[in-house]
Amino acid sequence: MNANRRVILSERPRYIVPTANCFRLETTAMPVPADGELRIRTTWLGMDSMLYARVQRVSSQQGEPIKLKDAMIGPAVGRVEESRHPDYKAGDLVSGFWEWQDYVISTGKRLRKLDFGVQKPSYALSAYGVPGFGAYVALDRIAPPQAGETVVVGTALGGLGQIAGQIAKLKGCRVVGIAGTDEKCGLAVQKLGFDACINHEAKDFSRLLMEACPAGIDVDIETVGGKTLEAIVPLLNLNARIAACGLMGTPHFGETAFKGRYQNTMSFMYEIINRRISVRGLVAFDHLRDKLQDFHRDMRGWIDSEAVRPLEDIVDGLENAPMAFQDIFEGRNLGKRVVRIAE
Ligand SMILES: NC(=O)c1ccc[n+]([C@@H]2O[C@H](COP(=O)([O-])OP(=O)(O)OC[C@H]3O[C@@H](n4cnc5c(N)ncnc54)[C@H](OP(=O)(O)O)[C@@H]3O)[C@@H](O)[C@H]2O)c1
Repeated sequence: MNANRRVILSERPRYIVPTANCFRLETTAMPVPADGELRIRTTWLGMDSMLYARVQRVSSQQGEPIKLKDAMIGPAVGRVEESRHPDYKAGDLVSGFWEWQDYVISTGKRLRKLDFGVQKPSYALSAYGVPGFGAYVALDRIAPPQAGETVVVGTALGGLGQIAGQIAKLKGCRVVGIAGTDEKCGLAVQKLGFDACINHEAKDFSRLLMEACPAGIDVDIETVGGKTLEAIVPLLNLNARIAACGLMGTPHFGETAFKGRYQNTMSFMYEIINRRISVRGLVAFDHLRDKLQDFHRDMRGWIDSEAVRPLEDIVDGLENAPMAFQDIFEGRNLGKRVVRIAE
């Protein structure tokens, strides 16, 4: 009853992608809050690919690595169980960034109360979390589309991809998703309302993408890079815009991924100049201060009216978090991957 299970990093990934066997479950005593602190029962964890930076050996812009034998950290939702903090009371729902464990102690710093009308607590990690916010900023500010334009979205079922595609539909665009299986593509069309979705593993992927974009591509919400970007570039229209959001396909996951790719990068740069394409990088956190309130208001309205339907892929149990994390690097998530730790 008084135990606290935590997922610790027991070894660094041997290859680029973190696998489940890098983690171990350990049990410690239930932590007790001191004056000015509160104890949170973790209820949900968000599986975000940017967390790979926390398990690597080297620092990156995505954050400092955690130490070996420390608990893994990430976006989380929980319920205040015991509070010795003036601003929180037992029962408050909160979200933040904390350790993968049953219970955490917080001083309230960087904690957010879920008091802005979130329809389900787990949505704080998906539609209202960094993925949803990133999608919102990408389409509002980084590469805003006009009605009637064609928008292509990689990781069609991913946390950012699925929300980006649905917002682009709301704006009156033709939305073409890209995903890794026919099943995912079917869900993108049937559940998320995309106009088309192309399997990047299909032999004739480039041709299928071209057929799905008969008027070319005006906006690319780029989350993958590599071979999907290579198929997108020749289809970009004059004055096309790219929101560079992520690189699931040609990671950030290490220098070696770029070997032999400089030629492609150079011809890409040529096309950017030749077709006056603008490419703008997105780091969602940069826009928190001035966009968060608008985002919460808009997302609440869209979800209430079912114009946006968040698609979550729920895995149960803290002990299954490491495999749930590995899955997103291997494309096994059918929606934003979240882990339910407790009700
Ligand atoms: N810049 C920002 O502020 C910001 C904010 C949020 C997210 N992001 C980034 O945006 C990217 C997408 O995030 P997301 O939330 O939409 O997805 P997600 O929920 O993290 O899902 C990851 C998806 O990536 C795809 N994938 C994995 N390995 C791949 C590979 N080798 N080649 C091609 N696709 C691969 C898989 O989908 P398929 O099987 O369908 O290919 C997988 O389901 C990530 O890199 C994330 O870090 C950036």
